[in-house]
Amino acid sequence: MAERNQFYITTPIYYPSDNLHIGHAYTTVAADCIARFKRMQGFEVFYLTGTDEHGQKIEKVAREKGKEPQLYVDEIVAGIKSLWDTMLITHNDFIRTTDKRHEAVVQKVFQRVYQQGDIFLSQYEGWYCTPCETFFTERQLVEGNCPDCGRPVELLQEESYFFNMGKYAPRLLEHIEAHPEFIQPESRRNEIVNFIKSGLEDLCVSRTTFSWGVPVPFNNKHVVYVWFDALINYLSGIGYLQDEEQFQRFWPADVHLMAKDIIRFHAIIWPIMLMALDLPLPRTVFAHGWIMLEGGKMSKSKGNVVDPRVLVNKYGVDAVRYYLVKELSFGQDGMYSEEMLVTRINSDLANDLGNLISRTVAMVNRYFESVVPGAIQAEPIDQELCQSAQTAYQEATAKLDKLDFSGYILAVMKLVARANKYIDETEPWRLAKDAGSLGRLGTVLYNLVESIRIAVILLAPTMPTLPTRVHEQLPLFSNLEKMKWSMAGQWGLTPAGIRVAKGPALFPRIDLKTLQEEPTAADQAAAEKAEAAPMEPTSKDKDLISIEDFARLDLRVAEVVECHKMEKADKLLVLKLQVGEKQHTVVSGIAKAYQPEALIGKKVVLLANLAPTKLRGTLSEGMILAASAEGDSNLEVLMINKDLPSGSRVK
Ligand code: MSP
Repeated sequence: MAERNQFYITTPIYYPSDNLHIGHAYTTVAADCIARFKRMQGFEVFYLTGTDEHGQKIEKVAREKGKEPQLYVDEIVAGIKSLWDTMLITHNDFIRTTDKRHEAVVQKVFQRVYQQGDIFLSQYEGWYCTPCETFFTERQLVEGNCPDCGRPVELLQEESYFFNMGKYAPRLLEHIEAHPEFIQPESRRNEIVNFIKSGLEDLCVSRTTFSWGVPVPFNNKHVVYVWFDALINYLSGIGYLQDEEQFQRFWPADVHLMAKDIIRFHAIIWPIMLMALDLPLPRTVFAHGWIMLEGGKMSKSKGNVVDPRVLVNKYGVDAVRYYLVKELSFGQDGMYSEEMLVTRINSDLANDLGNLISRTVAMVNRYFESVVPGAIQAEPIDQELCQSAQTAYQEATAKLDKLDFSGYILAVMKLVARANKYIDETEPWRLAKDAGSLGRLGTVLYNLVESIRIAVILLAPTMPTLPTRVHEQLPLFSNLEKMKWSMAGQWGLTPAGIRVAKGPALFPRIDLKTLQEEPTAADQAAAEKAEAAPMEPTSKDKDLISIEDFARLDLRVAEVVECHKMEKADKLLVLKLQVGEKQHTVVSGIAKAYQPEALIGKKVVLLANLAPTKLRGTLSEGMILAASAEGDSNLEVLMINKDLPSGSRVK
């Protein structure tokens, strides 16, 4: 059978009970990255997102705000749509469960499954809290009372429709067995299999205690259970029972992407609904981890919700998207803090990618009057660079196909690092001094331009404005619209003779100090002193530093996690230091006094906000404190013997 040229990817449809936060942006950006990647590969892509608007909770929130549910959700949904515009999300449609086109499909599905006998009317029995209008199971009660308001509950029966899921359980288990790619990652698959094997109860698929939902078509006392309603968006959003031609083209979905919180709905209820409808099952249901804050999961009640809009305004859409995609490691939880975001921007985007581009443009400018030269003299080191580009292309493709987002970013950034190293190794500034090396210099610069072109294509699904912004300085793409993924797999596509134009830094460094920090004792002392004695320093004080000056030093406890000797440098050690959540690489001239192994696990003091600098080709991000009497061999690194956590402030 020929490979199909269509690709259908979805995000969960989010509850518009409140504005969305960076956790929702995480999934939506990741799905957008895949959608863009597939489009660049030539697939006809359908990317669907939307909102899940029915149910008691939404109804309650709206009423609390004194609004009709429809009006309430309309306002939130307008905000969500504009958020996705800001984040440059390229969904092909936005489905709302209050859309008539969706409600009609829900009713038809319900009717059909009822008629074939898989849905039947019965009694739902549960503990009911009248003030909260909610049923609870015995296990949910807290000391026999309502878990929400603590008031007494009563055992009530409610007439409900039930969906006989057990009937389909053996078929679902067989499917999971035969299609290892169906539920990913594997740990989730095992969890689901165990759950199904423990026995599936009939699912209650209608409610009568509230009315904000899709009415059951043949009994309008009931509204359809919100999950039964919501899951159907994946069909109604591409035209099921309405635009059959389009539906046939895109179904089954290639990827339903979500976080692990809702995998059971997608890997059990949803496939069983599809079996009842005689429809093929989606190819992959993929659950990524959560993005966590330092204080745990984001939640309104904790007041730690991060609004992606604010971040995009501050740091730009490319940088925020880059951070989210890189933080999405295969199946694991990610971390978010503004400090980590800024550190990523500074290290990966400003130092590595931005510098590579600005150095290359500056050199073409200076040495070749702004015109990119041709490559004429290939040397083994050039082959190596070209090979790195090929590897980056292959790895990035394979990782994206597997939804291994951080693995993909890592693959591309290896090429960027290799290209930066190539500059240090080929030393273009030395070649420029020798008229006989001009040909070689031209080759070196051409190869750098090629590496940039390839890295930019590979990063385009994550950073959609990057190609245009680079293009303004380095017109690499004759037609940005026609930029294809496969162009990153070919070396030598840039024509010699294009003209570069120096422009502003693509990713300006951000001063970590501009972030709001808890004032430290030193900060406070400085503030008090300034208030108490608002005097200009006298000339006698000129060599002294003020407490404010001292407070600018960000001294931290850092744990040595890796350490090795720097090649061909007998005084230097390269240390990898853990500082709270972050890692710093530091090159330090202590090799004569310490064996690398002796330092691993030790806690040292790091000047963490020293401007990074390259030492023998390695970026050193800070300086560790050491005392020395005479010469470097009689030297002692300051160590912290108490069990203070890494990242603790030294002041
Ligand atoms: N409405 C249901 C989904 C129905 S799909 C047929 C729902 N909505 S939700 O608004 O709660 O969104 C949950 C989803 O939002 C998660 O599965 C995930 O995709 C995303 N995330 C919300 N917070 C998140 C994090 N903190 N981290 C990662 N993803 C998060 O469930």
